[in-house]
Amino acid sequence: MEGSWKPIDLVLEFLFVAVQVVLFIEGVYPADLFERNRKFGIAVSVCRHPDVCSYVRDHLTEARKWFEEGKVEKFVIPILERSRGSVMRNYVFLLRGIRSPTRKLNETQVKDLEVHLRGALARLMNLRRSTPPLDTVTWDMVMFTSGVPLGQSWAAAAGTETREIDPARKSLQAIKDVDTGSIVALEVYLEESKTPEDVNVVL
Ligand SMILES: *[C@@H]1O[C@H](CO)[C@@H](O)[C@H](O)[C@H]1NC(C)=O
Repeated sequence: MEGSWKPIDLVLEFLFVAVQVVLFIEGVYPADLFERNRKFGIAVSVCRHPDVCSYVRDHLTEARKWFEEGKVEKFVIPILERSRGSVMRNYVFLLRGIRSPTRKLNETQVKDLEVHLRGALARLMNLRRSTPPLDTVTWDMVMFTSGVPLGQSWAAAAGTETREIDPARKSLQAIKDVDTGSIVALEVYLEESKTPEDVNVVL
């Protein structure tokens, strides 16, 4: 990567790529809408559809200042069953901290952060699932924030719109712990909603 990167740039670029990788592995859109591209030093599947790309990019750009101010607790990509609107899975990016998000990083620091973020993308790519029938799943983006004024792209979520999974039906799978000590601490994990058959029923 060229130029003078700041931690915030790398985190937002990582999330931008991560959303596209999630859409690919979940088969939200047909596979031919994706192409392999090198990001953070590895080949990942990114979306070729300009509307999807700009939708994600615009939302993240608008949220940039809240990330910089440390007001974003979690960024979540829910995968929903289209017919019922129920959450099947949440890809969670838990921000534990970005230190001095707008300072310029030197080359060594950028490389170090890239290695960690690449590891997270590689883990996501490896989660590749069986492709669902077309148009049966959909997706969303949700941010859990503290004290931010909402803008044009982000609206306040109420009730089920927060896409929370009932804790009694939730299983967690760690994907990657990104901890570069002095730069970024970010936890990536998957929350899955267990089907009723998986839940132990206590009579
Ligand atoms: C980059 O910055 C870190 C932290 O300030 C420092 O320890 C390291 O020596 C720097 N590396 C280079 C190549 O300037």
